[in-house]
Amino acid sequence: MKLHHRIILIILLFIGLAGCSSSAEIVTNVGELQFEQALKIPELIEPTIESDGTKHFDLTMEPGTTEFLPGKITDTWGINGSYLGPTIRVARGDNVSIDVENKLGETSTLHWHGMKLPAVMDGGPHQMIEAGETWSPHWTIDQPAATTWYHPHLHGKTGQHVYRGLAGMFIIDDEDSKKLPSNYGVDDIPLIVQDKLFTSDRQLSDNNDSSYGTLGDEILVNGTHDPFLEVTASQVRFRLLNGSNARAYNFGFTDGRSFELVANDAGLLNEPVTLDSFMLSPGERAEIVVQFEPGDETILRSYSGSAGIESGEFDLLKIVAASELTESSPISSELSTVPPIEVPKDAKVRQFNLTMENDINGKKMDMNRIDEVVPAGTTEIWEIHNFGPEHNFHIHDAAFRVLDVDGNEPKEYERGRKDTVFVPRGASVRIVVEFGDHSDTEYPLMYHCHLLKHEDEGMMGQFLLVEPGTESEVPMELPKDDNESHDH
Ligand code: C2O
Ligand code: CU
Ligand code: CU
Repeated sequence: MKLHHRIILIILLFIGLAGCSSSAEIVTNVGELQFEQALKIPELIEPTIESDGTKHFDLTMEPGTTEFLPGKITDTWGINGSYLGPTIRVARGDNVSIDVENKLGETSTLHWHGMKLPAVMDGGPHQMIEAGETWSPHWTIDQPAATTWYHPHLHGKTGQHVYRGLAGMFIIDDEDSKKLPSNYGVDDIPLIVQDKLFTSDRQLSDNNDSSYGTLGDEILVNGTHDPFLEVTASQVRFRLLNGSNARAYNFGFTDGRSFELVANDAGLLNEPVTLDSFMLSPGERAEIVVQFEPGDETILRSYSGSAGIESGEFDLLKIVAASELTESSPISSELSTVPPIEVPKDAKVRQFNLTMENDINGKKMDMNRIDEVVPAGTTEIWEIHNFGPEHNFHIHDAAFRVLDVDGNEPKEYERGRKDTVFVPRGASVRIVVEFGDHSDTEYPLMYHCHLLKHEDEGMMGQFLLVEPGTESEVPMELPKDDNESHDH
């Protein structure tokens, strides 16, 4: 190599490194909050009971305005309200039907993230709800207790629709989960954590410039800025949802207290795990149980991780324990009897390469192309190889267990049932995936990076769940006219 080529190379490398470090700039809100707003608890929506016992819910997606800061009005979107949506709570075995009315003035969808259900009810990119229309999915809740959630999934617009405020929690109970604190809003508290970037006139900024998408410098918890929570029980279960477009959070408490992790995304752990911190990337959930003494004060904080979506230190929520607390019975050492997902003999192995171009196996999402055909009800190994910076990976109508990360045991906090997994920079993650058992040769399900800018830009693929043995008979293209007119 000639000397001047080397110099140019060194200069290019230097520019590259400088570019990286500026995108990893440390942002923080620590020291800026007064913790003066009572944490909002999303309303628990009451179903109407149909004659056959089906629980029916009405959801309306609509524009509105929200006062995040006193006296400052922000244009937002919400479901049955101006920002976020109500919490839906059902039990395993329930039949549910939902009317989703779209009053946004533009097309959207509503996806049930973490739900095991027929593909046509999934609310993914193919179940579009045109402006003014109502979509009415229905299904039977047939999975272990979990904290799931719902959000739009319109291809190319998911990031924008979620960022404006369309998201909510969907809680599934079963006999095991009811043994944990379950009094909603009292000792069972949802925490939907989102970072936001505001413009100078307090509107939600649409700045999507970072390679990861929008990374905000302000935090909302359940749509509350500067929040505090007074707890009145000696043990409180928190359901944490990272509802952010791109940011990951390393949760911990400023007094260093430990707590019990009791559930990952897709259900309860077999036994609690004592932790003092854990990480959630976008779309991931966790349930923890925290013990309080009367008068305790602590702050739930996100500590800065290595780089990229993990950088930045944020105070999330101040928690104050009342001077008298209701004594709760200690949590049991056996939480769930659902056995861990095991690798079957001769498990099929599929490879997914996340490339520097933010695609999967060299392809961007195509609404008309089927990328994988999976026999319904089977268990497979999926290997996800990340050739770039941080991503994560989510699969619809599936639950999985992380086998290893670069050949090492997964972190203690990600060993349970999951549907979304963090894929560190340059890492390979192997998961054993249990697929849903509803087959459908017409409507595909999605797998994708849950950093919403990446997903919107096509870091997503489609798979069909089919009757076992019919995999090779399935056309790998969907009829154009169904989808074409809606492509973005
Ligand atoms: Cu939370 Cu495909 O989505
Ligand atoms: Cu999903
Ligand atoms: Cu990504």
